[in-house]
Amino acid sequence: MERTVSKNQDKLVDAPDFLPLLGTDHVEIYCGNAKQSAFYYQSAFGFNLVAYSGLETGNKEQTSYVLQQEKLRIVLTSALTPESPINAHLAKHGDGVKYLALWVDDATQSWKETTSRGAISVLEPTVMKDEFGEVVVSAIQTYGDTVHKFVERKNYTGAFMPGFIAKSSTMEVKPIGLQYIDHCVGNVELGKMNHWVKFYEEVMGFGLLLTFDDKDISTEYTALMSKVVSNGNGYVKFPINEPAKGRKKSQIEEYIDFYQGAGVQHIAVATKDIIFTVGELRKRGVDFLEVPATYYDDLIDRVGEIKEDLEILKDLNILVDRDDEGYLLQIFTKPVQDRPTLFFEIIQREGAQSFGKGNFKALFEAIEREQASRGTL
Ligand code: FE2
Repeated sequence: MERTVSKNQDKLVDAPDFLPLLGTDHVEIYCGNAKQSAFYYQSAFGFNLVAYSGLETGNKEQTSYVLQQEKLRIVLTSALTPESPINAHLAKHGDGVKYLALWVDDATQSWKETTSRGAISVLEPTVMKDEFGEVVVSAIQTYGDTVHKFVERKNYTGAFMPGFIAKSSTMEVKPIGLQYIDHCVGNVELGKMNHWVKFYEEVMGFGLLLTFDDKDISTEYTALMSKVVSNGNGYVKFPINEPAKGRKKSQIEEYIDFYQGAGVQHIAVATKDIIFTVGELRKRGVDFLEVPATYYDDLIDRVGEIKEDLEILKDLNILVDRDDEGYLLQIFTKPVQDRPTLFFEIIQREGAQSFGKGNFKALFEAIEREQASRGTL
């Protein structure tokens, strides 16, 4: 059942935060053809190109496009040589999130605090300089081949970081109201959820916010368990999912089969106007999970009064859920690459701070229909 864990929430308030986070700095996706992925995120998702690194900037190893919409920044990176470790990552995982980069005031201290608590170092604190100042980065391993980078940019005024030049979109970009990352979900192997929750609690000072067990998240066929961890100020939330035993293969197992291990399942992005955002995404060809029209039959009985027009929500297939603090509207894209792995959630919060528990069943049944069409249920 869904429950808040008060002991840990108290801890969130009382204990000194040894890893203060200012928010998410960026998400870096390794992809096969960053140039073409950049076109997709500009044309469909309305991101502006803001910075670039590649052959023209003297980078002979890899190319990166930095895309931004309000506070949301994604970096798309491809290899330029066969020797690049990016290729091994791609061969194993397909396109996927490599770095969940966190914005900090002190990347050196962040690295010391986490590695002294058992984090595996991926990059020792490194100062990078150019004419716009300096950026300090460090990095630690998290689940699978995913890495948390700490980025300290308080002494930097450039477009992104040293090694990048400012670059603008050469196409017309129409933003769709994406604001910032609301939460970012990891799928981990069977039996590993508590291991990673403990990692976030002990190594990164996060607190456990919510627990969902397989009674909350199960359908006739599949089940999963989930725990949500949050940093001290609540800016960074990471739900962690693991598969639970069901009659057929769960969506988490399908993910782990295709991603060849643990990794980022979805990135939830906040909008103030989900009807506009989703209307634009649909016009631009982005596919979403569909729930049946019957979902809307008793919706108002379940969630009470909402200010949005029910017919429009039904038309766009946007889901609604309510908790003690208010309601939320949400929708999930289909995977954004050919492997059924990474996808996006679009979320509008009207007070609610939860994650749409009331929609889990309808959503998982929608995912199972997709799995059945892929022959992986
Ligand atoms: Fe989510």
